[in-house]
Amino acid sequence: MLKKLKLIFLLALISGSPVFAQKQSGTETDAQKQKRMEWWTDSRFGMFIHFGLYSGAARHEWVKHNEHLSNEQYQKYFDQFNPDYFDPTKWAKEAKAAGMKYMVMTTKHHEGFCLFDSKYTDYKSTNTGAKRDLVREYVNAVRAQGLKVGFYYSLLDWHHPDYTMDDAHPLVQVDTSQANYDRLNKGRDMAKYRQYMRNQLTELLTNYGKIDVLWLDWSWDKKGQRRGRGKGAKDWGSVELLKLVRKLQPGIIVNNRLDLNEYKDGADFETPEQVSTAELAKYHGKTWETCQTFSGSWGYYRDENTWKTHRQLLDLLITSVSNGGNLILNVGPTARGEFDYRATRALDSLATWMHANNRAIYNCTFAPDTYKVPENDKLTYNAKTKRLYVHLYDYPAGGTITLPGYAGKIKYAAFLNDASELLYKPSATNPDDLILTLPAKKPLYEIPVVELTLN
Ligand code: GLC
Repeated sequence: MLKKLKLIFLLALISGSPVFAQKQSGTETDAQKQKRMEWWTDSRFGMFIHFGLYSGAARHEWVKHNEHLSNEQYQKYFDQFNPDYFDPTKWAKEAKAAGMKYMVMTTKHHEGFCLFDSKYTDYKSTNTGAKRDLVREYVNAVRAQGLKVGFYYSLLDWHHPDYTMDDAHPLVQVDTSQANYDRLNKGRDMAKYRQYMRNQLTELLTNYGKIDVLWLDWSWDKKGQRRGRGKGAKDWGSVELLKLVRKLQPGIIVNNRLDLNEYKDGADFETPEQVSTAELAKYHGKTWETCQTFSGSWGYYRDENTWKTHRQLLDLLITSVSNGGNLILNVGPTARGEFDYRATRALDSLATWMHANNRAIYNCTFAPDTYKVPENDKLTYNAKTKRLYVHLYDYPAGGTITLPGYAGKIKYAAFLNDASELLYKPSATNPDDLILTLPAKKPLYEIPVVELTLN
């Protein structure tokens, strides 16, 4: 028996197919999936919005967990909630200007507060000073700007009375004993909570028209590593949940946090979170979207000052595309419902760059192996238009760059930002290489782009 298992494992390794990734709950073919996801892979760039009661605490969306707050202690954020400047049209316009093609907003985060008018809870925006369904306004605004609409929905819920204890729950952070778990779990029933999620997702996916993306968050059932104190597919009823989602919105694109890794169709894309650009290379060839914040937290965090620079943000975007993935950048609006000036400034800079260079992002992916990456630069590639983009990370003022092995492969070179021609000739020392001459003055873009029209 053991021998047989070993053999199966070995065969799977040789053939490159993961042994346990074979189950499939639907009937979609790879080609159909590719078609369904085309707009998303072509877009490459989206905006995440984390907005909720935690925006008022302004010190991390996990504040309830971090400070071990009970529902009663957290109630003040509900009582104060009144985003008088909430204007998703402004958000959507900023996203669009920055070149983003889709948005994903928290309809409910781990704190359990709903930004929509759910029939199944009183813990919702209509019962706050906002007095209205913020999700509806968001959907209308985003759609009106011609962007695709996405919902984030937290699987965790630190407010719901039936949601059982796990090691992320605010109430078991101080006393982690089993006795405390047992005491708090008395009367809680995950089956009822699962029904609550199905009910709410049904509302979200039937009452707001076509929804393009669903971002469910998250699972951490580490198979005993956390003494069974995480939650995963069984706790959420993930298989049924995903079936329901696909039934209600057949075209929708769903992330991978339901803990359905053993299903071939358990997710549409991977979600490397806050990883470095170096790490993104690992995802080459997969379908993925890296989610990143401007600073350390997702929810508005007034005193957090490690904001990424314009160059770091550009690097994330370019490196994502050059490895065949998407980038979703997060904004945590303030409790008044506005983008913080630091977010707006970052978006404005991206808007300037994207206006000039978005052809090197949309519909692009990694370059074919036959094109070596010029030193210090990164490449993106559009297979349909047969254009190759050299992102000049290190601008050689008044100098030249070597395009290694490019002789005979290109017919025209120009800056992308102004379509001005760049001259090139074969290298004197190695005629396979081309030497491209750049002007002394660097164009006014942090990372300028050269567009090569391929033969
Ligand atoms: C995490 C965090 C969360 C954030 C999310 C975004 O799982 O729990 O606060 O919303 O990732 O990727």
